[in-house]
This record gives sequence, C-alpha cells and structure tokens, in this order.
Amino acid sequence: MLKWQILDQLKKNPESYLSGEKLSRKFSVSRTAVNKAIKSLRDEGYKIAAFTNRGYKLISSPDILSEYEIKSRLSSKILGKEIVVYDSLPSTNITAKQLAEEGLPEGTVVLAREQKGGRGRLSRSFYSPMDMGVWMTVLLRPRIRAEEAPIFTIMAAVAVNNAIEKLCGIRPTIKWPNDIFLDGKKVCGILTEMSMEAETRTVYHIVIGIGINVNNRSFPEEIENIATSLNMFTKNPPGKSELAAEVLNQLDNLCAGRYYDKKKGDLISRYRSDLNMLGKKVKLIRGSKESAVTALDIDENGCLIVQHNDKSISVVNSGEVSIKVPGGYI
Ligand code: BTN
Repeated sequence: MLKWQILDQLKKNPESYLSGEKLSRKFSVSRTAVNKAIKSLRDEGYKIAAFTNRGYKLISSPDILSEYEIKSRLSSKILGKEIVVYDSLPSTNITAKQLAEEGLPEGTVVLAREQKGGRGRLSRSFYSPMDMGVWMTVLLRPRIRAEEAPIFTIMAAVAVNNAIEKLCGIRPTIKWPNDIFLDGKKVCGILTEMSMEAETRTVYHIVIGIGINVNNRSFPEEIENIATSLNMFTKNPPGKSELAAEVLNQLDNLCAGRYYDKKKGDLISRYRSDLNMLGKKVKLIRGSKESAVTALDIDENGCLIVQHNDKSISVVNSGEVSIKVPGGYI
C-alpha cells in the first residue's frame, strides 16, 4: 500500500526532507496520490511536516497498535505472518478461535485496541480499556497432545518478561502459572486455550491470549489494589506496537525450540528463576477447595510441586495459588 511505502521512506530518512516529486517518481504514482497518502497518514496520527520546495519529514509516530508498526519490527519466523488489528472486540481469544476454525495459518495474531468482554482464567473478566494496553492473541497449530499444552503458557510468560526487561529495563516476576507481576501487582495476564480431538487428545490449535497494561492511570475499584501498569514504573513506557512486536519476537524465538527438546531445560530454568513464590507459603485453590501449602519447585513440565502441612508432596498442574503477604493473600 502506497502510504506504508511512503512511511517507510520517511522513517528511513529521519533527518532529510523527501519531496513529493521524488516520492511520486520512486513509486510511479501521481503527486495527487502522494498527497492523499500523506493525508491518510496524518489522519492516523503521524505528524508529518511539509515545507515548500523541500518536501516532507516525519516528526513523530502515534502510539497505536497497527499492522504496519508491528510488522516493521518483527524478526520472527512463525509469529505475525498474518496480523489483524481491530478497534473493538469482545475478546481477541474468541476471535482468534473463530479464525482458527476458518483455517487461518499458524502464527496469525489478533489484536484489539479495546476488549468489551476480555476474558481471564477461571471465567473471570479481564479489564482491557481503549488504547491502554496490548490485548493480543497468537494462534498456533503445534502437533502435540493436550497434556503438553501448558508449556505454551510458560513460553508466553517468559517471552513477556524478556520483552519488558528489554524495553523497560525491569524484569517482572511470575506468579504461577501465568500472571506477570511488578512490585506485588499484576501487570499482565495470560490465557491459553485449545481445541483438541477428544479421542486421541491431539491438539488442533492453541490460542495464547496476552494482556499487558501499558498506559493505565487508574483501575476499577475491585482491582485497583492488585493491578498495575508499565507507565507506573517508567517515564517512557514502550509504544504498544513496539511492545507487541517484541513479545512476538521473544515468543517466536522460544517457539523455535518448542517442539522443544534441547531448549526446554533453559526455558524451565528461566521460568523458575522468575517465579515469585518458591519457598513460600501459598494458598492453593482448586475448584472450591482451598489449602495452605508450601511452593517447593516446578517440574520439567512447569507443574508446581507443593508440600502439604502433613509433609506429603504433590504435583499440581492446574488451579491457582495465592501468595501470603502481610494482611492477606495476593
Ligand atoms: C488472566 O489474568 O487470568 C488472563 C488474562 C488474559 C487476558 C488476555 S487479553 C488478550 C486475550 N483476550 C482475552 O479475552 N483474554 C486474553
């Protein structure tokens, strides 16, 4: 598309002016087409200065989620082959699952500027207001059995931590299995869902939904004590497209070793060192049952190894844990 080609040129020449004439010759289009493309970019929030006899210069880019801004930063092999960005969706996970049924390829990524029905684990909702964060879902079609699927949540958690560390210079912690924490509050949630053949338990597709709070200034009362956002930790939070692209690059890198063999050990040790609960008393919640246990370690599949009060040890592969903090649990 002409406007993206022109934007590429403007980004490649940040110090110089590009004349309308030069651009029209370069892309073999009329001056009117160049003017139209510049107008369309300005409408999307790009600040482009125009000086008579000199031409155009890009002054700044908007902090928006866009296919162009994400794709231009991707170095991935699988993820981001198709990128679809919506203004508003009920949930990117739901749309990704529909697109998976329609046959969209592995590596498709669905993003939305806002979600009206963002979904969390255990049928909870996930607060996803307009332009405040990265709400995105990745579609994968690994040839694995359902039992192996939890490793994808682990990959996503490590990918998010790698991306935040790279772009913000701070490394969050992970509350098993899939919540990303900064300073004791949740900055990101991950929801992995899958479709499988019931008889053989072979996976048809997996969708990994990632929600990262980036620009939130406030949260609804019911989550204000437990939620946080990247802008509360850095004066210059990353652009949303920049962050989305970095998470995809990191996840792609981990996925390359996913069917995983050698790299699995590295992944698990990185995940283990990010966990914020090992050695601590935690409350284990499984269905309606709650028990106080000590989180000892995780195994090679990312399952939590816990010790009960009677000293017996068990391996937990689902459920949820709350960490004991002064005055309660988070
Ligand atoms: C949780 O905190 O329990 C998981 C939250 C997952 C939120 C993300 S935002 C993008 C994707 N779409 C959804 O509806 N949920 C996930």
